Amino acid sequence: EKGGYDHFMLKEIYEQPSVIKDTYRGRLHANEGLIQMAGIEDNLEKFLNAERIIIVACGTSWHAGLVAEYIFEEFARIPVEVEYASEFRYRNPIINRKDVVIAISQSGETADTMAAIKLAKENGAFVFGVCNVVGSSISRETHAGAYTHAGPEIGVASTKAFTTQITVLTMIALRLAKAKGTLSNSVFHSYLQELEIIPEKVKEALETNERAKEIAAVFKDAPNCLYLGRGYNFPVALEGALKLKEISYIHAEGYPAAEMKHGPIALIDEHMPVIVIAPKQGHYDKIVSNIQEIKSRSGKIIAVVTKGDTQVRELADYIIEIPETSDALSPLITTIPLQLLSYHIAVMRGCNVDQPRNLAKSVTVE
Ligand code: M6R
Repeated sequence: EKGGYDHFMLKEIYEQPSVIKDTYRGRLHANEGLIQMAGIEDNLEKFLNAERIIIVACGTSWHAGLVAEYIFEEFARIPVEVEYASEFRYRNPIINRKDVVIAISQSGETADTMAAIKLAKENGAFVFGVCNVVGSSISRETHAGAYTHAGPEIGVASTKAFTTQITVLTMIALRLAKAKGTLSNSVFHSYLQELEIIPEKVKEALETNERAKEIAAVFKDAPNCLYLGRGYNFPVALEGALKLKEISYIHAEGYPAAEMKHGPIALIDEHMPVIVIAPKQGHYDKIVSNIQEIKSRSGKIIAVVTKGDTQVRELADYIIEIPETSDALSPLITTIPLQLLSYHIAVMRGCNVDQPRNLAKSVTVE
């Protein structure tokens, strides 16, 4: 059942090229320049009239929501707020009929997300679900939705759900951008083409497995770890840290790289591994200077870089090379080596990778 892999988590990491394809199949028509998703087409007016989009989710799904915030605002120019479902449900939020609420949930059973949906509905919002489990409670409670086609995710640590959620949300943003004319035709087309070949790039990113294993062997006993990224890769830093803490029990934190100087930089010494997501596209020069700041305080730098990178290579202690992508689609690639790194560290520490202590696959109690 694990398909020859030692753990479900590893199997699910390796399934990502094919499940991303399953998720866009029949929806993304790159050659025709079309995106067709029934749940969006049927409710296009609601999205186009939305004064804002509120995304509610928990855990990894919340991280996918953060990536989506950047993508929606950039592509479709619709204001987006992303909230932890648990906070949203209890803080008397302002919600009205002109809001579109997107609830993201792999299991479709998360209690806090469910409660947030009910609250949004009571206040007249249109609620759209992005779920993986067909027929799940959340998929039934929402007005409409689009499934991720990740297949069953057994490992408690979410991997393929995350990348397929980003795939669905990116397609929605592109569809809305097309309707609103917020992206030029050529940019729109190039994103479609790029999304179509993303599974190939994810496959290439999976080739970092051996490298991730080597680096895992060096840092497996670290008590702490920092993850840094900027822009689209800030949520990837959060996700990398969550993945490490939940399966290896190493304390880890993700930060937007520029926030370092507002506090966390005090933690840096020669014992602190710092994982920096530093692809060529994006805020490269800025992240290079953040790396310099860490280096001058003797932090150990593990950098995820674009193939052929020279500048970061000189500064970092270890590099992991990934294929080039546009800034907006890069989370689908940069997250792969981080999943592998946590996986190997957890295995080397003798942890129960698929069923970490104190955790359940779906959190059906608040
Ligand atoms: O099923 P959901 O997407 O609603 O679950 C949300 C979180 O419980 C989930 O992502 C959790 O954080 C994972 N263990 C992270 O790997």
